[in-house]
Amino acid sequence: MTFLRKLPAPNRSCLSPRLSLKVWNTPAPHHLRTITTTRDPEGQTRNRVAIVTGAARGIGRAIAHRLAKDGYNITVSDLPSLQYQLNSLVSELTSAGDGKTKVHAQPADVTSPSDVASLINSSASVLGSLDTMVANAGIAQVKPLLDLTPADFSRMFDVNVAGVQNCFQAAAKQMITQKIPEASEIRGKLIAAASIVAFKPFALLGHYSASKWAVRGLCQVYAMELARHKITVNAYAPGIVDTKMWELIDEGLAEREGKEKGEMIRKYSDQLIALGRTSVPEDVARLVSFLGSEDADYITGQTYIVDGGIIFT
Ligand SMILES: NC(=O)c1ccc[n+]([C@@H]2O[C@H](COP(=O)([O-])OP(=O)(O)OC[C@H]3O[C@@H](n4cnc5c(N)ncnc54)[C@H](O)[C@@H]3O)[C@@H](O)[C@H]2O)c1
Repeated sequence: MTFLRKLPAPNRSCLSPRLSLKVWNTPAPHHLRTITTTRDPEGQTRNRVAIVTGAARGIGRAIAHRLAKDGYNITVSDLPSLQYQLNSLVSELTSAGDGKTKVHAQPADVTSPSDVASLINSSASVLGSLDTMVANAGIAQVKPLLDLTPADFSRMFDVNVAGVQNCFQAAAKQMITQKIPEASEIRGKLIAAASIVAFKPFALLGHYSASKWAVRGLCQVYAMELARHKITVNAYAPGIVDTKMWELIDEGLAEREGKEKGEMIRKYSDQLIALGRTSVPEDVARLVSFLGSEDADYITGQTYIVDGGIIFT
């Protein structure tokens, strides 16, 4: 609660003076419908605000691009060591589209509650509110369960599970201080990165699978506890997405099977994916765009698979 009292007032000077893009009697195109504007106490209007963690590369970067295209103002975050990539993302986002997206970058290690508190605080202070929190940051490791050290195991859970907990807890507390946006029944949205391994584990990714299974469970309980605050909580579960993370998984699996780099991702894509191609980050970003939109207002506690047809629920 001390943290809440210390929250700075929204910086009204940087709030968008744009009026609502909603046209009530005619259905708007999808990209306009996802822009819900609201009025602050002084009667100004603003676009919604999202935070994306693990945004410097891969799926997080694609999500940041997609949410900016959807009309959000965005805070992007990643480890301090990736500040350079975050800066280049800020340039890309501010120069894309109509050039009106407000973008803020704040490095944070999601395992650190104080880093995450600063992230939420600075985002609310610079962009004026928090409507959608995307807890995307995550790590993977290829190792048999019998070889795992206690440090391997706790590191996995610190980043993938405690990281989501830190982000969701601080984001929800910020959202609860805010009014429900005009013409909306939802105050805010929490969205986390799970995985298909949250439904069917993958051998040699044991602790990773267990951590993503935990993310699915955490989202379900958050959905139960936050429904009374009109906050929805969901997760996305990608399959095999061509990012640095799968490069690492591919290398780890190839090493064990005596294969060349790139062979394992090709093999699994060919054998497992019904739609016949490896996923790209934009496949996942489209799902996150939907979960963040008002079209998903009546959905909570769910983990949605986006894998081209590997796991069938
Ligand atoms: N790539 C896939 O096939 C796949 C499949 C299912 C789920 N996922 C999940 O999607 C999310 C994004 O994965 P990706 O493929 O883009 O991976 P990636 O490795 O390319 O990107 C992950 C990002 O998270 C950041 N990160 C790691 N630890 C962090 C920490 N402690 N604090 C802040 N940031 C941290 C990294 O710096 C990196 O920028 C992850 O949670 C991952 O588990 C990925």
